[in-house]
Amino acid sequence: MKKIAVVGSINIDQTVTAQRIPLKGETLPGGNLRYIPGGKGANQAVAMAKLGAKVEMFGCVGDDDNGRKMMENLASNNVETENIKIVSGIPTGIAIITVGENDNTIIVVEGANGQVNRDYIDSIKDILLQYDMVVLQHEIPLDTVHYVVDLCAAHGIPTLLNPAPAAEVPMEIIEKVTYLTPNEHEAVLIFGKERSTEDLLKTYPEKLIITQGSRGVSVGLKDGQVVNVPARKAEVVDTTGAGDTLNGAFCVKFIESDNIVESLEYANAAASLSIGKFGAQSGMPTTEELAKILEV
Ligand code: RIB
Repeated sequence: MKKIAVVGSINIDQTVTAQRIPLKGETLPGGNLRYIPGGKGANQAVAMAKLGAKVEMFGCVGDDDNGRKMMENLASNNVETENIKIVSGIPTGIAIITVGENDNTIIVVEGANGQVNRDYIDSIKDILLQYDMVVLQHEIPLDTVHYVVDLCAAHGIPTLLNPAPAAEVPMEIIEKVTYLTPNEHEAVLIFGKERSTEDLLKTYPEKLIITQGSRGVSVGLKDGQVVNVPARKAEVVDTTGAGDTLNGAFCVKFIESDNIVESLEYANAAASLSIGKFGAQSGMPTTEELAKILEV
């Protein structure tokens, strides 16, 4: 079985629901305060493992209770954690999340995720280069993201970069990654607002995958076609982690099938299930749960 590595963030999510997202300067009552596993990297690793992939998480946590809980959570979801570094004197990353109006706002305090630096990558490089695919996001230092993309490109290892949270991606990195999966806002930051989604997808066929929320996900094919995989109708409890589920499920399907459209249909279905439960990871489907809705 092929193996996937995730190099990314591990957070504890402090999540609260509110009737709506507060306005600037406003105080609102909240409910359902919870401390649950998150972090875009860890979420994507868990999404993959729940769908049966062999996956290892590379990143850093603090030497604290949150770090230990997040490591336990990864391990209990069958994600390999052996090479996660435990750093002392810096707390595990925390995301402060407000869930409301079928959407969310997130503030991330990077903590130990900031220690995922070149030295750490050099220390795990020989192991990382044994993987069949390496997956990254923007919740660790961008210098490290680019360093890993360079390294993988030099060794012919496919990479997927989910550029979230939004930040610019140098042209050289766009050329080197195998897949770039921004949402529409991230795509504007990366490519500028002058270019249409269709134009971008045609320029980067079978590389650029743009997620469009309730409108689904689109990709350009090498024959010039642009394909939109529409979102599935789903009950929305919490959209946190839907993008992570989509990215994770896409990798799991693609690495085995090599079929981009089929993989996006699979990923879209997984994302639609993930929003039916509270929290980034709790709604992520298993292979069996996903198979049931794909039969319908
Ligand atoms: O993508 C959702 C994730 O973003 C949350 O789990 C939170 O940790 C933030 O990093």
